[in-house]
Amino acid sequence: MSKIENEKQEVDATQEESPLETPCMSRRKLLMTGGKMGGVAAISMLLPGTMFPGKAAAGQGMVSAAVAARTVRYPRTKVGKLSALKTDRPVKIQYPGNAEGQKGLLIKLGEKAMGGVGPKQDVVAFSAFCTHQGGPLEDQYNPKEKSLGPCEFHLSKFDLQKHGIMITASAVQNLPQIVLEVEGDDIYAVGVLGLIYGYQDNLQGV
Ligand code: FES
Repeated sequence: MSKIENEKQEVDATQEESPLETPCMSRRKLLMTGGKMGGVAAISMLLPGTMFPGKAAAGQGMVSAAVAARTVRYPRTKVGKLSALKTDRPVKIQYPGNAEGQKGLLIKLGEKAMGGVGPKQDVVAFSAFCTHQGGPLEDQYNPKEKSLGPCEFHLSKFDLQKHGIMITASAVQNLPQIVLEVEGDDIYAVGVLGLIYGYQDNLQGV
């Protein structure tokens, strides 16, 4: 056997040895080994245990604590009556709690709106604070545009027919919409879409 053939055989033998016994394994080799070991096992070696707690519980060798689901329940609060609302005349409400920052507006727009309730789906409710830096919006209803704004602080404006999306910045988040339900003539608030300005949790203090 020639010297070159001898060297080639030595190289081949090195590549055949168990990668788990090799102190320094290349990433390519590790991935290829993972393929032989099975996909989940390979991923288990690469990712932190907390990313797949279910797999860990199934005995994949990862350290992980059980994760309990938490269900958030908003109160169901009566906020007005359909028969008492007048088109383009906002009514101040409190939801989900009674704190200053949880003030909102209930408005009959007179035109269909996303998330609107009532026979014409034109009754909506929103937080009364701008999502940019908390500017007060309770006196900023614009009946022509069906919007709230411009905010006194930096001129943001929100479209009340389109889930409170920004019409003009500086805000970068929609105005939180209060989810409504109707039962007979009564209007109930049952949730909030989006985070109220200044809160890490809309239900803080509720
Ligand atoms: S606080 Fe309303 S635009 Fe800045």
